[in-house]
Amino acid sequence: MREPRKLFTMTEEEALAQDAADSSLGAWEALKFCLPWLKPYVRKLILVTMADISLLGLAFIPPWFTTFMLDSALPNKDWDLVWRVALMAVGLGLWMQVLQVARDYLYLYIELKIQLDIRNRMYRQIQRLSMRTLDARPVGQMVDRVLIDSDRVGHTIYRIIPTFLMVVQFALLFAYVSYIDPLITAIVVAFLVPWTILFHWVTTVGREIDRRRLFCCEMRDATIQQAASSFAITKTFGREQHERFKHGSRATAVQRLGNQNYLILVWFEFATQRLIPYLKTTTVYLYFMRKVVFGEMTLGMTAPMIAYLGRLNFPLERIANFYNWVRQTMVSTERLMAFLRVEPDVVDRPDAVRMQEVRGDVAFENVSFSRPGRGRVLDGVNLTIAPGTTTAIVGPSGSGKSTLVALLLRLHDPETGRVLVDGHDLRDLHLDTYLRRIAVVQQETFIFGGTLANNIRFGKPDATDDELRTVLEQVGLGPWLEALPDGLDQDLKSGHGLSAGQRQRIGIARALIGDPGMVILDEPTSALDGPTEASVMATIETVFSGKTIVLVTHRLHTAAHANQIGVLVGGVLVEVGNHQALLARGEAYARLVAEYERGAEREEAAA
Ligand SMILES: Nc1ncnc2c1ncn2[C@@H]1O[C@H](COP(=O)(O)OP(=O)(O)OP(=O)(O)O)[C@@H](O)[C@H]1O
Ligand SMILES: [Mg+2]
Repeated sequence: MREPRKLFTMTEEEALAQDAADSSLGAWEALKFCLPWLKPYVRKLILVTMADISLLGLAFIPPWFTTFMLDSALPNKDWDLVWRVALMAVGLGLWMQVLQVARDYLYLYIELKIQLDIRNRMYRQIQRLSMRTLDARPVGQMVDRVLIDSDRVGHTIYRIIPTFLMVVQFALLFAYVSYIDPLITAIVVAFLVPWTILFHWVTTVGREIDRRRLFCCEMRDATIQQAASSFAITKTFGREQHERFKHGSRATAVQRLGNQNYLILVWFEFATQRLIPYLKTTTVYLYFMRKVVFGEMTLGMTAPMIAYLGRLNFPLERIANFYNWVRQTMVSTERLMAFLRVEPDVVDRPDAVRMQEVRGDVAFENVSFSRPGRGRVLDGVNLTIAPGTTTAIVGPSGSGKSTLVALLLRLHDPETGRVLVDGHDLRDLHLDTYLRRIAVVQQETFIFGGTLANNIRFGKPDATDDELRTVLEQVGLGPWLEALPDGLDQDLKSGHGLSAGQRQRIGIARALIGDPGMVILDEPTSALDGPTEASVMATIETVFSGKTIVLVTHRLHTAAHANQIGVLVGGVLVEVGNHQALLARGEAYARLVAEYERGAEREEAAA
């Protein structure tokens, strides 16, 4: 897999250059990507194509009514014939209208369905990708790709077939007109040449502008995402003006490119849809009038000829529009393809084992793992955890503690070695069922927008209100719940009004409610002050007693109670044992404890 690109660590120009460099998508490749999306709608497409073909055929008829009128009915003063022909013309016109509405409805239906399919695929892809890939992408980029690119590509895909029919129509009309009058071919071709050149030019220039514009849109939307999610830090650092300027300049870039794009399009449309067709039509008119004047053609015969030649413009216009769309969409297609083609690092095997229950019998066997650009962050780790016991992982910052936990959650697969849970290699497990039977408490609990009940139900969607009250009582939030005006239905407003301790207790409640077999806690108390920490830790010990607990912490006094303590230094598990044994060894753990106590004394002295 290609290394994921980190947009924010490059300048925008660099990123743009790279974007252009790895997306030299050929039309054929794009088509191969687009066609399979049509597959589920083959039957509808056949129907719609039949409607289109019959419309195409019927469209040849109406001009002949005029010929008939001018050359037969009118010169013979045959009123009977006049009204019959008129009636037929009206009937045919109405029928064509009906066909057209049906066709357009079906096309729209297919278009919306394809857009829906692409969106769902994109969403699924975001969920499939591992943390590693997602971390490397700004959020705004993801949102834009799901929203803008999928609609654009959907719109283009459904137009492939109608546009192809337009080409057929163009060829048929052209062949017929050339057959009737070869000189006309020369006239039409003469006008097709500048048309094609213009077309080619606009496609090339436009595509570049479009790539820039979409890229700038992503950058702009990323700033909005950031503003919305980090406004507190922006405010407290007094960076509002700077952030505003950043957003302003990115939004202005989008606006400028939009203007530029429009100006090019206006000239392009003027030339290809007005100027060239007008000139062509005038020339053709004069040519026919001359033939009529010199008696080489009847007046009636000019009607179909002029109508067909006029209709030659219509497919051209449609083809031009489509091409324009394709040109714009190429960039979107490239980006969608690039995104959908990223293979997730972590995937379930087809015969993955579904876990009914997790006891928490864990074994790390010779596990190593590297981070891009950092080399080995875990090196040959061997650790066994007995079910129902507590294991603390300690070590200096950056020593790989969180990475070890990430492997246990299968956010990544180990590079060498394996992680076993209840005797199964994690790679053989059905990830969702496994994760549902264990629980995680992070350093900071993420509070979703919405009610208290829903925040806790995230751990068990079908939990009853009574269950919710019980766990809240267990984690020590009983009195707090009593005091809430809306009780369980209290809107937590993404956690803005909660203390750090309350957040952690909500996190513990969320973990507890699913009755997990194993609990993984990564620095669950490091954001808390001394007394709060002690009481939250006590809560953790009581509510999860009897379960397998993996506790990452750098607060060594919380580790001291653990059945076993693993000491990680620079990615290597240097010691495993209980508090007493490790202290008695007088090595890494003893040094950490000594250092920790000195720090605690200093803190006390300062206080
Ligand atoms: N997403 C990432 N991309 C690249 N390197 C990473 C990433 N996450 C962690 N690392 C690196 O991997 C190493 C181990 O990180 P890890 O988070 O496991 O340490 P830790 O022991 O949990 O540290 P702390 O006590 O500070 O939480 C560090 O050198 C860190 O810089
Ligand atoms: Mg960590």
